[in-house]
Amino acid sequence: MNFKFPVEALSRLETPLYYYDMDILNNTLDTVKNEADKYGFKVHYAVKANANERILKAIQQRGFGADCVSGFEVQQAVDCGFDASGIVFAGVGKTDKEINLGLDNNIACFNVESIPELEVIDELAGKKGKVAKVALRINPNVNANTHHYITTGLEENKFGINIWDLENVLAVLKSLKNVHLEGIHFHIGSQITDLTSFRDLCLKVNELQKWMISHNILPKVVNVGGGLGVDYHNPDNSIPDFASYFKVFADLIELQPEQELHFELGRSLVAQSGALISRVIYIKKGVNVQFAIIDAGMNDLIRPALYQAYHKIENLSSTMAEEKYDVVGPICESSDCFGKAVTLPQTLRGHLMAVRTAGAYGEVMANRYNLRTLPIPYYSDTL
Ligand code: LLP
Repeated sequence: MNFKFPVEALSRLETPLYYYDMDILNNTLDTVKNEADKYGFKVHYAVKANANERILKAIQQRGFGADCVSGFEVQQAVDCGFDASGIVFAGVGKTDKEINLGLDNNIACFNVESIPELEVIDELAGKKGKVAKVALRINPNVNANTHHYITTGLEENKFGINIWDLENVLAVLKSLKNVHLEGIHFHIGSQITDLTSFRDLCLKVNELQKWMISHNILPKVVNVGGGLGVDYHNPDNSIPDFASYFKVFADLIELQPEQELHFELGRSLVAQSGALISRVIYIKKGVNVQFAIIDAGMNDLIRPALYQAYHKIENLSSTMAEEKYDVVGPICESSDCFGKAVTLPQTLRGHLMAVRTAGAYGEVMANRYNLRTLPIPYYSDTL
C-alpha cells in the first residue's frame, strides 16, 4: 500500500502542516498486532513518538497499551481511552506530582531507574495506602549501533540500573512495603535496523533471568522496550519487518511459563504514516548550489538538524526535469536544512513539498522557535 497525497486538497491549506495517511497507519497497526499476537506478546505504544489524539485513539482501539514518559503523556493516554491496566510509566526523572498521578490512576507499572526513585514511589504509595507495581529498568550494556543521541543501553548512559548495582537495588526493594516487583525492563536505543542488537539483548536478558531465578526472584513481566527502526529511504511499501523482529525474541528469549513478554514500540508504528507538507517560498541561487527555501523549518521537524537524520523529500507539484537543490527552512540557523544536493524535479516558488516518514518524533517535537506557530495536523479520512 502506497502513501497517498490528496494534492488538490492539500494545496488549499496553509503550510507547513502534518499530513497523516490513516490507511497506512491502520495497516501498520494491524500488522504489528497480528505478528505480536502470534506469540502472545503485548505491545505498549511509546506515546513519545506521536501523542496526537487521533493517532492515539487508533492505537488504543486496536488494543495496544501505552508507554508514557511524563505525567502529561499518562494523562493524554487516559484521556484517549487507554485502560490504566495498559499504561506503563518510564523515565529517569519522574516528579512527585507525576508519580502521584500514576498512583491515582492505578497504572499498570512504574519503570524505575534508580534507588532514590524507588524510595520516593514507596513513600508516595504508602501515603495513599497503595502498593505500586514497579519494573526495574536494567541497563544491559548492549550496543544498539545507532546514533549516539538515541543510544540508551550502555553503562555510560543516564538510563537504567547498572547490572553491578542490581543486588543492591533488590535488597532495598525487599525492605520497602509499598512497592511490588512486577517486571524487569530494558531498552537499548532507537532506530535500530540491525536485528543483531536485539539478539544480543535477548542473550543478556536470559543471563540476567538465570541469575534472578537463582536468587528466587521471578517477576511476571519481561519488557524489552522498543527501538525497531524504519526505512527512511523507502517511505512507500515499507511496513517494518515486524515478523522477523518478533521472531528474534520468540526464538531466543527464555521465559518461564508464567511470564509475559512486553514491548514498547514507538517509531515503527507511526513513522511511515506521516509527512510534513510545506511550500517553496523562494528558489535562491548560491555559489555552487541552488537553495529551495521552504516554509517548514527545524522547529516543525527537528530530526535532520538534531541527529543529521535523513528524510526523503519530494516535490508534489512538479514533473519537470531533475535538478539538485539544498532544501532549507526559514529559521536563522545553518542547521535548518532538510537535505543537501537533493535531486528533485525542477522546483519553483509555490510548489508543494513533502518531507516523508515524519509520523514519528516529528509533530511531537515541534516547537515555537523564532515564535513560529505549531504545524497543524490533518488526516486522510477527514480531509
Ligand atoms: N521505550 C523507551 C524507554 C524509550 O526511551 C523509547 C524511545 C522507546 C521505548 C521507543 O523507542 P522507538 O520504538 O520509538 O525507537 N527523538 C528521537 C528518538 C528518541 C527515542 C527515545 N526513546 C528520534 O527522532 O530519532
